[in-house]
Amino acid sequence: MDISIVLAAGEGTRMKSKIPKVLHKICGKEIIKYVIEASHRANIEKCILILGHGREEVIQSLIEYNVLFENQPMGESFPYGTGFAVMQGVRHVNDDDTVLILNGDVPLISSHTLKAFIDFHKKEKASISVMTAIFHNPHGYGRIVRKKTGEVIGIVEEKDASEHEKTIKEVNSGIYCFSGKELKTALKRLDTNNSQNEYYITDAVGLLKKDGKKVCGFRIDDMMEISGINDRYQQYQLNHYKQLEINKNHMMNGVTIIDSHNTYIDDSVMIEKDVIIYPGTILQGTTFISEDCIIGPNATIVDCKVGQGTIIEQSKLIDSVVGKSSSIGPFAYLRPKSIIGDHVKIGDFVEVKNTTIGNGSKASHLAYLGDGEVGDNVNIGCGVIFVNYDGMQKQSTKIGDNAFIGSNSNLVAPVTIEKGAYIACGSTITDDVGEGMLAIARARQVNKEKK
Ligand code: UD1
Ligand code: CA
Repeated sequence: MDISIVLAAGEGTRMKSKIPKVLHKICGKEIIKYVIEASHRANIEKCILILGHGREEVIQSLIEYNVLFENQPMGESFPYGTGFAVMQGVRHVNDDDTVLILNGDVPLISSHTLKAFIDFHKKEKASISVMTAIFHNPHGYGRIVRKKTGEVIGIVEEKDASEHEKTIKEVNSGIYCFSGKELKTALKRLDTNNSQNEYYITDAVGLLKKDGKKVCGFRIDDMMEISGINDRYQQYQLNHYKQLEINKNHMMNGVTIIDSHNTYIDDSVMIEKDVIIYPGTILQGTTFISEDCIIGPNATIVDCKVGQGTIIEQSKLIDSVVGKSSSIGPFAYLRPKSIIGDHVKIGDFVEVKNTTIGNGSKASHLAYLGDGEVGDNVNIGCGVIFVNYDGMQKQSTKIGDNAFIGSNSNLVAPVTIEKGAYIACGSTITDDVGEGMLAIARARQVNKEKK
Protein backbone atom coordinates (compact mmCIF):
# COMPACT_ATOMS: atom_id res chain seq x y z
CA MET A 1 0.00 0.00 0.00
CA ASP A 2 1.08 3.61 -0.57
CA ILE A 3 0.94 5.62 2.65
CA SER A 4 1.76 9.23 3.36
CA ILE A 5 2.88 10.61 6.70
CA VAL A 6 2.48 14.37 6.98
CA LEU A 7 4.59 16.08 9.63
CA ALA A 8 2.65 18.86 11.25
CA ALA A 9 3.39 18.78 14.97
CA GLY A 10 5.95 21.56 15.10
CA GLU A 11 5.32 24.79 16.89
CA GLY A 12 6.23 27.04 13.99
CA THR A 13 8.13 29.39 16.30
CA ARG A 14 9.36 31.49 13.43
CA MET A 15 5.80 32.43 12.47
CA LYS A 16 5.53 34.28 15.83
CA SER A 17 1.86 33.38 16.04
CA LYS A 18 -0.70 31.88 18.38
CA ILE A 19 -2.16 29.96 15.43
CA PRO A 20 -0.51 26.59 14.63
CA LYS A 21 1.74 27.07 11.61
CA VAL A 22 -0.06 24.62 9.34
CA LEU A 23 -3.33 26.52 9.83
CA HIS A 24 -1.92 29.70 8.38
CA LYS A 25 -3.34 30.29 4.93
CA ILE A 26 -2.22 30.99 1.45
CA CYS A 27 -4.85 32.17 -1.03
CA GLY A 28 -7.53 31.57 1.56
CA LYS A 29 -6.72 27.95 2.34
CA GLU A 30 -4.82 26.45 5.28
CA ILE A 31 -1.41 25.25 4.14
CA ILE A 32 -1.93 21.76 5.57
CA LYS A 33 -4.95 21.32 3.28
CA TYR A 34 -2.83 21.82 0.18
CA VAL A 35 -0.52 19.03 1.35
CA ILE A 36 -3.36 16.60 2.14
CA GLU A 37 -5.09 17.32 -1.17
CA ALA A 38 -1.86 16.69 -3.10
CA SER A 39 -1.50 13.36 -1.28
CA HIS A 40 -5.08 12.35 -2.09
CA ARG A 41 -4.75 13.39 -5.71
CA ALA A 42 -1.57 11.33 -6.02
CA ASN A 43 -3.81 8.32 -5.17
CA ILE A 44 -2.10 7.60 -1.88
CA GLU A 45 -4.44 5.32 -0.02
CA LYS A 46 -3.78 6.30 3.57
CA CYS A 47 -2.75 9.72 4.86
CA ILE A 48 -1.51 10.00 8.45
CA LEU A 49 -1.07 13.38 10.05
CA ILE A 50 1.34 13.82 12.95
CA LEU A 51 0.02 16.55 15.21
CA GLY A 52 1.28 18.16 18.40
CA HIS A 53 1.14 21.91 18.87
CA GLY A 54 -2.40 23.16 18.33
CA ARG A 55 -3.56 19.59 17.73
CA GLU A 56 -7.23 20.19 18.57
CA GLU A 57 -7.46 23.23 16.34
CA VAL A 58 -5.89 21.38 13.44
CA ILE A 59 -8.24 18.40 13.84
CA GLN A 60 -11.23 20.75 13.96
CA SER A 61 -10.27 22.41 10.71
CA LEU A 62 -9.82 19.05 8.96
CA ILE A 63 -13.16 17.48 9.84
CA GLU A 64 -14.07 17.00 6.18
CA TYR A 65 -10.80 15.32 5.27
CA ASN A 66 -10.19 11.60 5.06
CA VAL A 67 -7.04 11.39 7.18
CA LEU A 68 -5.80 9.62 10.32
CA PHE A 69 -4.32 11.55 13.21
CA GLU A 70 -1.41 10.59 15.40
CA ASN A 71 -0.24 12.54 18.38
CA GLN A 72 3.38 13.53 18.89
CA PRO A 73 3.86 13.89 22.64
CA MET A 74 5.24 17.29 23.52
CA GLY A 75 6.97 18.70 26.56
CA GLU A 76 10.26 18.76 28.45
CA SER A 77 10.42 14.98 28.90
CA PHE A 78 9.99 14.23 25.19
CA PRO A 79 12.46 14.58 22.37
CA TYR A 80 11.67 16.74 19.37
CA GLY A 81 12.33 16.73 15.67
CA THR A 82 11.11 15.43 12.33
CA GLY A 83 12.49 11.96 13.10
CA PHE A 84 10.52 11.72 16.33
CA ALA A 85 7.44 12.90 14.43
CA VAL A 86 7.75 10.10 11.86
CA MET A 87 8.12 7.56 14.71
CA GLN A 88 4.58 8.40 15.81
CA GLY A 89 3.15 7.18 12.51
CA VAL A 90 5.18 4.04 12.09
CA ARG A 91 2.63 1.67 13.62
CA HIS A 92 0.56 2.11 10.45
CA VAL A 93 3.44 0.96 8.26
CA ASN A 94 3.91 -2.58 6.92
CA ASP A 95 7.24 -3.78 5.58
CA ASP A 96 6.09 -3.86 1.98
CA ASP A 97 4.42 -0.44 2.03
CA THR A 98 5.79 2.58 0.21
CA VAL A 99 5.84 5.49 2.63
CA LEU A 100 5.84 9.05 1.42
CA ILE A 101 6.89 11.59 4.05
CA LEU A 102 5.50 15.07 3.51
CA ASN A 103 6.06 18.27 5.42
CA GLY A 104 2.92 20.03 6.55
CA ASP A 105 4.56 23.37 5.80
CA VAL A 106 5.47 22.72 2.15
CA PRO A 107 2.13 23.45 0.50
CA LEU A 108 2.75 23.87 -3.22
CA ILE A 109 3.88 20.33 -3.91
CA SER A 110 1.79 19.01 -6.80
CA SER A 111 0.19 15.60 -7.07
CA HIS A 112 1.82 15.31 -10.47
CA THR A 113 5.30 15.61 -8.93
CA LEU A 114 4.38 13.24 -6.09
CA LYS A 115 3.21 10.60 -8.56
CA ALA A 116 6.41 10.93 -10.59
CA PHE A 117 8.44 10.72 -7.37
CA ILE A 118 6.75 7.53 -6.16
CA ASP A 119 7.07 5.94 -9.63
CA PHE A 120 10.76 6.84 -9.68
CA HIS A 121 11.30 5.38 -6.19
CA LYS A 122 9.59 2.12 -7.13
CA LYS A 123 11.35 1.82 -10.44
CA GLU A 124 14.74 2.39 -8.82
CA LYS A 125 13.83 -0.10 -6.07
CA ALA A 126 15.40 2.38 -3.68
CA SER A 127 15.34 2.07 0.12
CA ILE A 128 14.92 5.81 0.37
CA SER A 129 14.51 8.55 -2.21
CA VAL A 130 14.72 12.21 -1.34
CA MET A 131 13.22 15.00 -3.38
CA THR A 132 15.60 17.90 -3.95
CA ALA A 133 15.99 21.12 -5.91
CA ILE A 134 18.62 23.74 -6.57
CA PHE A 135 18.03 26.95 -4.62
CA HIS A 136 19.94 30.13 -5.37
CA ASN A 137 19.48 31.02 -1.74
CA PRO A 138 19.53 27.71 0.16
CA HIS A 139 19.69 29.38 3.58
CA GLY A 140 17.75 27.50 6.26
CA TYR A 141 17.37 24.26 4.29
CA GLY A 142 19.11 20.93 4.77
CA ARG A 143 21.79 20.41 2.10
CA ILE A 144 22.17 17.33 -0.04
CA VAL A 145 25.66 15.89 0.25
CA ARG A 146 26.77 13.89 -2.78
CA LYS A 147 29.94 12.01 -3.64
CA LYS A 148 31.97 13.22 -6.60
CA THR A 149 30.25 10.47 -8.57
CA GLY A 150 26.89 12.10 -7.81
CA GLU A 151 25.64 9.51 -5.32
CA VAL A 152 23.68 10.98 -2.43
CA ILE A 153 25.42 10.13 0.82
CA GLY A 154 23.66 12.27 3.35
CA ILE A 155 21.72 15.38 4.33
CA VAL A 156 23.21 17.99 6.59
CA GLU A 157 21.13 20.61 8.34
CA GLU A 158 22.13 24.26 7.98
CA LYS A 159 22.80 24.46 11.71
CA ASP A 160 25.17 21.48 11.59
CA ALA A 161 26.81 22.27 8.25
CA SER A 162 30.47 23.11 7.76
CA GLU A 163 31.33 26.28 5.83
CA HIS A 164 31.94 24.15 2.78
CA GLU A 165 28.62 22.30 3.13
CA LYS A 166 26.81 25.61 3.44
CA THR A 167 27.88 26.47 -0.10
CA ILE A 168 25.90 23.50 -1.46
CA LYS A 169 22.89 24.78 -3.36
CA GLU A 170 20.97 21.52 -3.65
CA VAL A 171 18.46 21.44 -0.81
CA ASN A 172 16.34 18.84 0.91
CA SER A 173 12.64 19.32 0.25
CA GLY A 174 11.64 17.41 3.38
CA ILE A 175 9.79 15.01 1.07
CA TYR A 176 10.98 11.41 1.06
CA CYS A 177 9.91 8.02 -0.16
CA PHE A 178 10.83 5.03 1.98
CA SER A 179 10.32 1.35 1.69
CA GLY A 180 8.33 0.48 4.83
CA LYS A 181 10.88 -2.01 6.07
CA GLU A 182 13.85 0.32 5.68
CA LEU A 183 11.99 3.18 7.31
CA LYS A 184 11.44 1.10 10.42
CA THR A 185 15.09 0.04 10.52
CA ALA A 186 16.33 3.61 10.13
CA LEU A 187 13.99 5.05 12.77
CA LYS A 188 15.32 2.65 15.38
CA ARG A 189 18.80 4.01 14.84
CA LEU A 190 18.24 7.78 14.80
CA ASP A 191 19.90 9.73 17.59
CA THR A 192 19.89 13.30 18.83
CA ASN A 193 23.62 13.99 18.43
CA ASN A 194 23.23 17.29 16.61
CA SER A 195 23.21 20.99 17.34
CA GLN A 196 19.48 21.00 18.12
CA ASN A 197 19.36 17.74 20.13
CA GLU A 198 16.55 16.54 17.90
CA TYR A 199 15.79 13.34 16.05
CA TYR A 200 16.29 14.28 12.42
CA ILE A 201 14.51 12.16 9.79
CA THR A 202 17.21 13.43 7.43
CA ASP A 203 19.75 11.22 9.21
CA ALA A 204 17.97 8.19 7.76
CA VAL A 205 19.62 8.95 4.44
CA GLY A 206 23.18 8.66 5.77
CA LEU A 207 22.33 5.64 7.93
CA LEU A 208 20.80 3.64 5.10
CA LYS A 209 23.62 4.63 2.77
CA LYS A 210 26.18 3.32 5.29
CA ASP A 211 24.25 0.04 5.40
CA GLY A 212 24.80 -0.20 1.67
CA LYS A 213 21.15 0.40 0.85
CA LYS A 214 20.05 2.17 -2.29
CA VAL A 215 19.60 5.91 -1.69
CA CYS A 216 18.34 8.07 -4.56
CA GLY A 217 17.96 11.78 -5.13
CA PHE A 218 15.03 13.02 -7.22
CA ARG A 219 15.76 16.54 -8.36
CA ILE A 220 12.91 18.72 -9.54
CA ASP A 221 13.10 22.02 -11.41
CA ASP A 222 10.27 23.98 -9.85
CA MET A 223 11.69 25.22 -6.58
CA MET A 224 8.37 26.72 -5.52
CA GLU A 225 6.88 23.26 -5.21
CA ILE A 226 9.23 22.41 -2.40
CA SER A 227 9.53 25.79 -0.73
CA GLY A 228 8.54 25.71 2.92
CA ILE A 229 6.74 28.24 5.05
CA ASN A 230 8.64 28.93 8.24
CA ASP A 231 8.05 32.64 8.66
CA ARG A 232 5.68 35.35 7.47
CA TYR A 233 7.94 36.44 4.67
CA GLN A 234 7.99 32.94 3.17
CA GLN A 235 4.23 32.84 3.62
CA TYR A 236 4.00 36.06 1.67
CA GLN A 237 6.26 34.72 -1.09
CA LEU A 238 4.31 31.49 -1.57
CA ASN A 239 1.00 33.30 -1.32
CA HIS A 240 2.10 35.72 -4.02
CA TYR A 241 3.32 32.94 -6.28
CA LYS A 242 0.17 30.87 -5.80
CA GLN A 243 -2.03 33.93 -6.37
CA LEU A 244 -0.43 34.67 -9.72
CA GLU A 245 -0.93 31.02 -10.66
CA ILE A 246 -4.62 31.06 -9.66
CA ASN A 247 -5.17 34.29 -11.58
CA LYS A 248 -3.40 32.89 -14.63
CA ASN A 249 -5.63 29.82 -14.56
CA HIS A 250 -8.70 32.06 -14.58
CA MET A 251 -7.26 34.02 -17.50
CA MET A 252 -6.69 30.78 -19.39
CA ASN A 253 -10.35 29.95 -18.76
CA GLY A 254 -11.52 33.21 -20.33
CA VAL A 255 -11.52 35.72 -17.48
CA THR A 256 -9.97 39.16 -18.04
CA ILE A 257 -7.90 40.31 -15.08
CA ILE A 258 -6.65 43.83 -15.58
CA ASP A 259 -3.87 43.67 -12.97
CA SER A 260 -2.97 40.24 -11.67
CA HIS A 261 -0.66 41.72 -9.02
CA ASN A 262 -3.56 43.56 -7.46
CA THR A 263 -6.31 40.94 -7.61
CA TYR A 264 -6.79 38.48 -4.76
CA ILE A 265 -8.78 35.37 -5.56
CA ASP A 266 -9.02 32.42 -3.18
CA ASP A 267 -8.21 28.96 -4.42
CA SER A 268 -11.86 27.99 -3.85
CA VAL A 269 -13.52 30.72 -5.96
CA MET A 270 -15.20 29.90 -9.29
CA ILE A 271 -15.45 32.36 -12.16
CA GLU A 272 -17.11 31.83 -15.54
CA LYS A 273 -15.84 33.17 -18.84
CA ASP A 274 -16.00 36.74 -20.09
CA VAL A 275 -15.91 38.16 -16.60
CA ILE A 276 -13.77 41.30 -16.29
CA ILE A 277 -12.01 41.94 -13.00
CA TYR A 278 -10.61 45.36 -12.19
CA PRO A 279 -7.81 45.95 -9.67
CA GLY A 280 -8.25 45.90 -5.93
CA THR A 281 -10.75 43.07 -6.09
CA ILE A 282 -10.83 40.39 -3.38
CA LEU A 283 -12.88 37.25 -4.07
CA GLN A 284 -13.07 34.78 -1.22
CA GLY A 285 -14.59 31.56 0.06
CA THR A 286 -17.34 29.88 -1.92
CA THR A 287 -17.85 32.85 -4.23
CA PHE A 288 -19.17 32.03 -7.70
CA ILE A 289 -19.16 34.70 -10.42
CA SER A 290 -21.24 33.95 -13.53
CA GLU A 291 -20.46 34.89 -17.13
CA ASP A 292 -20.16 38.50 -18.32
CA CYS A 293 -19.95 40.13 -14.89
CA ILE A 294 -17.81 43.21 -14.38
CA ILE A 295 -16.22 43.16 -10.94
CA GLY A 296 -14.28 45.97 -9.30
CA PRO A 297 -12.34 48.05 -8.96
CA ASN A 298 -12.10 47.46 -5.22
CA ALA A 299 -14.86 44.91 -4.77
CA THR A 300 -14.68 42.52 -1.83
CA ILE A 301 -16.93 39.51 -2.32
CA VAL A 302 -17.05 36.74 0.27
CA ASP A 303 -19.14 33.55 -0.06
CA CYS A 304 -21.52 35.05 -2.65
CA LYS A 305 -23.20 33.86 -5.81
CA VAL A 306 -23.38 36.49 -8.55
CA GLY A 307 -25.59 36.04 -11.63
CA GLN A 308 -24.75 36.67 -15.27
CA GLY A 309 -23.89 40.14 -16.47
CA THR A 310 -24.00 41.83 -13.08
CA ILE A 311 -21.76 44.81 -12.31
CA ILE A 312 -20.21 45.19 -8.87
CA GLU A 313 -18.15 48.29 -8.34
CA GLN A 314 -16.29 49.46 -5.19
CA SER A 315 -18.52 47.43 -2.89
CA LYS A 316 -18.45 44.80 -0.18
CA LEU A 317 -20.69 41.72 -0.40
CA ILE A 318 -20.82 38.97 2.21
CA ASP A 319 -22.73 35.68 2.17
CA SER A 320 -25.31 36.97 -0.30
CA VAL A 321 -26.86 36.14 -3.67
CA VAL A 322 -27.16 38.61 -6.54
CA GLY A 323 -29.17 37.83 -9.69
CA LYS A 324 -28.61 38.56 -13.36
CA SER A 325 -27.91 41.95 -14.95
CA SER A 326 -28.00 43.79 -11.66
CA SER A 327 -25.79 46.65 -10.59
CA ILE A 328 -24.24 46.94 -7.15
CA GLY A 329 -22.37 50.04 -6.05
CA PRO A 330 -20.31 52.05 -6.20
CA PHE A 331 -19.99 51.96 -2.41
CA ALA A 332 -22.75 49.50 -1.55
CA TYR A 333 -22.61 47.03 1.33
CA LEU A 334 -24.44 43.72 1.16
CA ARG A 335 -24.31 42.05 4.54
CA PRO A 336 -25.15 38.37 5.13
CA LYS A 337 -28.36 36.87 3.73
CA SER A 338 -29.11 39.58 1.22
CA ILE A 339 -30.88 38.07 -1.76
CA ILE A 340 -30.95 40.44 -4.69
CA GLY A 341 -32.99 39.60 -7.82
CA ASP A 342 -32.40 40.24 -11.52
CA HIS A 343 -32.15 43.74 -13.03
CA VAL A 344 -31.89 45.29 -9.57
CA LYS A 345 -29.97 48.44 -8.79
CA ILE A 346 -28.33 48.85 -5.39
CA GLY A 347 -26.54 52.16 -5.66
CA ASP A 348 -24.13 54.23 -3.65
CA PHE A 349 -24.18 54.10 0.15
CA VAL A 350 -26.96 51.55 0.29
CA GLU A 351 -26.63 48.91 3.01
CA VAL A 352 -28.66 45.73 2.73
CA LYS A 353 -28.86 43.03 5.41
CA ASN A 354 -30.96 39.87 5.58
CA THR A 355 -33.28 41.28 2.96
CA THR A 356 -34.78 39.93 -0.24
CA ILE A 357 -35.12 42.35 -3.13
CA GLY A 358 -37.31 41.38 -6.09
CA ASN A 359 -36.55 41.69 -9.80
CA GLY A 360 -36.33 45.17 -11.26
CA SER A 361 -36.35 46.98 -7.92
CA LYS A 362 -34.12 49.94 -7.22
CA ALA A 363 -32.50 51.51 -4.19
CA SER A 364 -30.25 53.95 -5.95
CA HIS A 365 -28.76 55.94 -3.11
CA LEU A 366 -28.29 56.29 0.64
CA ALA A 367 -30.58 53.70 2.20
CA TYR A 368 -30.61 51.05 4.92
CA LEU A 369 -32.60 47.94 4.08
CA GLY A 370 -32.44 45.47 6.96
CA ASP A 371 -34.62 42.40 7.69
CA GLY A 372 -36.97 43.13 4.80
CA GLU A 373 -38.84 41.54 1.95
CA VAL A 374 -39.11 43.78 -1.07
CA GLY A 375 -41.19 42.74 -4.12
CA ASP A 376 -40.57 43.33 -7.82
CA ASN A 377 -40.23 46.77 -9.43
CA VAL A 378 -40.21 48.63 -6.17
CA ASN A 379 -38.61 52.05 -6.08
CA ILE A 380 -36.86 52.89 -2.85
CA GLY A 381 -36.02 56.57 -2.74
CA CYS A 382 -32.91 58.24 -1.46
CA GLY A 383 -32.51 58.15 2.30
CA VAL A 384 -35.09 55.44 3.04
CA ILE A 385 -34.59 53.50 6.26
CA PHE A 386 -36.07 50.20 7.32
CA VAL A 387 -36.27 50.95 11.02
CA ASN A 388 -35.76 47.34 12.04
CA TYR A 389 -34.54 47.59 15.60
CA ASP A 390 -36.41 48.95 18.60
CA GLY A 391 -33.49 48.44 20.94
CA MET A 392 -34.68 44.97 21.89
CA GLN A 393 -35.78 43.06 18.84
CA LYS A 394 -35.26 43.03 15.10
CA GLN A 395 -38.52 43.35 13.15
CA SER A 396 -39.28 42.96 9.48
CA THR A 397 -40.47 45.31 6.75
CA LYS A 398 -42.51 43.97 3.82
CA ILE A 399 -43.05 45.87 0.60
CA GLY A 400 -45.26 44.56 -2.22
CA ASP A 401 -44.60 44.72 -5.96
CA ASN A 402 -44.60 48.09 -7.72
CA ALA A 403 -44.68 50.10 -4.50
CA PHE A 404 -42.98 53.47 -4.42
CA ILE A 405 -41.20 54.57 -1.25
CA GLY A 406 -40.56 58.31 -1.33
CA SER A 407 -37.24 59.75 -0.33
CA ASN A 408 -36.26 60.07 3.29
CA SER A 409 -39.00 57.82 4.61
CA ASN A 410 -38.73 55.73 7.76
CA LEU A 411 -40.57 52.43 7.63
CA VAL A 412 -40.90 51.47 11.28
CA ALA A 413 -40.97 47.67 11.50
CA PRO A 414 -42.91 45.51 11.83
CA VAL A 415 -44.77 47.09 8.94
CA THR A 416 -46.26 46.01 5.60
CA ILE A 417 -46.61 48.20 2.53
CA GLU A 418 -48.94 46.45 0.10
CA LYS A 419 -48.61 46.25 -3.68
CA GLY A 420 -48.63 49.48 -5.61
CA ALA A 421 -48.77 51.63 -2.47
CA TYR A 422 -47.13 55.03 -2.53
CA ILE A 423 -45.32 56.54 0.43
CA ALA A 424 -44.94 60.29 0.34
CA CYS A 425 -41.43 61.46 0.89
CA GLY A 426 -40.34 62.29 4.41
CA SER A 427 -42.98 60.01 5.97
CA THR A 428 -42.45 58.02 9.13
CA ILE A 429 -44.66 55.00 8.55
CA THR A 430 -45.77 53.11 11.64
CA ASP A 431 -49.01 51.53 10.34
CA ASP A 432 -49.49 49.11 7.44
CA VAL A 433 -50.41 50.67 4.10
CA GLY A 434 -53.02 48.94 1.92
CA GLU A 435 -52.77 48.02 -1.75
CA GLY A 436 -52.54 51.05 -4.01
CA MET A 437 -52.98 53.53 -1.12
CA LEU A 438 -51.07 56.77 -0.72
CA ALA A 439 -49.65 57.27 2.75
CA ILE A 440 -48.45 60.64 3.99
CA ALA A 441 -47.10 60.68 7.51
CA ARG A 442 -45.44 63.97 8.17
CA ALA A 443 -46.37 67.35 9.61
CA ARG A 444 -47.99 69.81 7.21
CA GLN A 445 -45.92 72.74 6.13
CA VAL A 446 -46.82 76.07 7.71
CA ASN A 447 -45.53 79.26 6.18
CA LYS A 448 -45.54 82.23 8.56
CA GLU A 449 -44.79 85.90 8.13
CA LYS A 450 -41.34 86.84 9.36
CA LYS A 451 -41.42 89.36 12.17
C1 UD1 B 1 13.27 20.36 7.53
C2 UD1 B 1 14.44 19.44 7.19
C3 UD1 B 1 15.35 20.16 6.21
C4 UD1 B 1 14.55 20.55 4.97
C5 UD1 B 1 13.32 21.35 5.33
C6 UD1 B 1 12.44 21.49 4.11
C7 UD1 B 1 14.89 18.06 9.18
C8 UD1 B 1 15.78 17.85 10.35
N1 UD1 B 1 15.17 19.13 8.40
O1 UD1 B 1 13.81 21.51 8.16
O2 UD1 B 1 16.43 19.32 5.84
O3 UD1 B 1 15.39 21.29 4.07
O4 UD1 B 1 12.54 20.67 6.34
O5 UD1 B 1 11.34 22.33 4.34
O6 UD1 B 1 14.01 17.27 8.95
N2 UD1 B 1 7.68 18.71 12.81
C9 UD1 B 1 7.00 17.82 13.61
N3 UD1 B 1 7.51 17.48 14.82
C10 UD1 B 1 8.70 17.97 15.26
C11 UD1 B 1 9.39 18.89 14.44
C12 UD1 B 1 8.87 19.23 13.21
O7 UD1 B 1 5.93 17.34 13.24
O8 UD1 B 1 9.09 17.59 16.36
C13 UD1 B 1 7.07 19.10 11.53
C14 UD1 B 1 6.80 20.58 11.45
O9 UD1 B 1 5.49 20.88 11.91
C15 UD1 B 1 6.95 20.88 9.97
C16 UD1 B 1 7.91 19.80 9.49
O10 UD1 B 1 7.95 18.82 10.49
O11 UD1 B 1 5.73 20.75 9.27
C17 UD1 B 1 9.30 20.37 9.27
O12 UD1 B 1 9.78 20.92 10.48
P1 UD1 B 1 10.61 22.28 10.49
O13 UD1 B 1 10.97 22.59 11.89
O14 UD1 B 1 9.93 23.32 9.71
O15 UD1 B 1 11.92 21.79 9.75
P2 UD1 B 1 12.93 22.65 8.90
O16 UD1 B 1 13.83 23.39 9.82
O17 UD1 B 1 12.20 23.45 7.90
CA1 CA C 1 10.04 23.88 7.51
